[in-house]
Amino acid sequence: MNITIFGTGYVGLVTGTCLADAGHHVMCVDVDKAKIDRLNEGIIPIFEPGLEQMVRQNVESARLSFTTQSEEAVRFGTLQFIAVGTPPGEDGSADLQYVLQVAETIGHHMDDYKVIINKSTVPVGTAEKVQAKIAKTLQERGIELDYDVCSNPEFLKEGAAIEDFTRGARIVVGTHSEKAIKLMRECYAPYNRNREKIMVMDVRSAELTKYAANAMLATKISFMNEMANLAERLGADIEQVRQGIGSDPRIGYHFIYPGCGYGGSCFPKDVQALSRTAQQVGYRAEMLEAVEAINERQKHTLFEKLSKAFNGELKGKKIGVWGLAFKPNTDDMREAPSRVLMESLWEAGAQVYAYDPEAMTETRHIYGNRDDLKLCERMEDAVAGADALVICTEWKQFRAVNLAWIASQLKGGVVIDGRNLYSPKDAKAVNLRYISVGRM
Ligand code: UDX
Repeated sequence: MNITIFGTGYVGLVTGTCLADAGHHVMCVDVDKAKIDRLNEGIIPIFEPGLEQMVRQNVESARLSFTTQSEEAVRFGTLQFIAVGTPPGEDGSADLQYVLQVAETIGHHMDDYKVIINKSTVPVGTAEKVQAKIAKTLQERGIELDYDVCSNPEFLKEGAAIEDFTRGARIVVGTHSEKAIKLMRECYAPYNRNREKIMVMDVRSAELTKYAANAMLATKISFMNEMANLAERLGADIEQVRQGIGSDPRIGYHFIYPGCGYGGSCFPKDVQALSRTAQQVGYRAEMLEAVEAINERQKHTLFEKLSKAFNGELKGKKIGVWGLAFKPNTDDMREAPSRVLMESLWEAGAQVYAYDPEAMTETRHIYGNRDDLKLCERMEDAVAGADALVICTEWKQFRAVNLAWIASQLKGGVVIDGRNLYSPKDAKAVNLRYISVGRM
């Protein structure tokens, strides 16, 4: 079938590419001409394992194309996915201007039946706003056309986006229209073969499902970080506690890793937006507020631990930082704990020697050239002669290092580990002053 996708960000690009790969004809639209030109050559603007090759193959086989021409794109697809950004507004609520602009564009150019699908994470009630915008635009044109608006939230994780899209746990479709359900089934049929994954529900429930999923996952993390902070003060080991509770299937082992706080483009933004939505309907979501507050506090723990290790004297110290992206297998720096750390270090007058396997360009882009930031080409360069090493992201290559070698390289012998990668006993054996999260 013919499918149009508005927005070539993470969600739009992965959705468009995976649907083309399943045999559909997909046209992706974006206002950024330079980005579209590069995409048509098969060059993608993000780091996502496997995606570039998949884009290239599908562009070559003419199932996937990219354009800035919205009129042509609206005419093209029976399904019109909206996957543009919903950045947080000043008060933390999701800003819908781009979503509603696309709705207007669709209303402006459509000339037959369309299903308009909200793929972006949008507050409950947005489908109704999209519906109203299209109705108004059609009215201004003086024409009547049949169309349906439905919600189809995306649950993919960066770094595993293709796998998550093609083998996801569920496909949520929020609509009452039988016609739209039939077309959505056809769209997802290639990825709905082995087991029925499509869950049809009302549109508001579908919209809330997305926020509830992210809020639940963020809650698990903040809960574990709270327990880790307690464990530190009580002389317990959070890693043993984690295994102890994870073995209960009602709790499970997933997403209970303590650390230096969650980051990324989804959890921080979505927890905040859901809090604001609650406020707007006169309800104070105290749990969500706590999840957010704990996470903010957790992002400062690495600096606090480091500062304590040096009795508050960090001026002029050389601090190695391993891992800058908010998690492994991405170059995404949005809301990354490393940023809170580096900014605090600079404020304290320290020199940062940073290394990340993918996020160096992004870091340079955010912070520019500054005297107190050195971007190291190799992970070894961030450690040599440093007073301390801080680990912010658990990239695989940091796991298997020789601790004796780290000890021999560091001047100050201090390792602050925000991801609990090493055994405290092994670190102690090589005389490192090893400080992790929730362990003695
Ligand atoms: C998340 C959701 O997982 C995904 O379903 C949704 O569609 C978008 O948001 P993503 O932001 O890509 O995906 O990353 P994810 O792998 O979920 O990690 C989020 C953050 O939580 C990272 O900073 C990670 O380090 C942190 N985290 C995760 C923990 O601190 N502990 C854990 O146990 C798990």
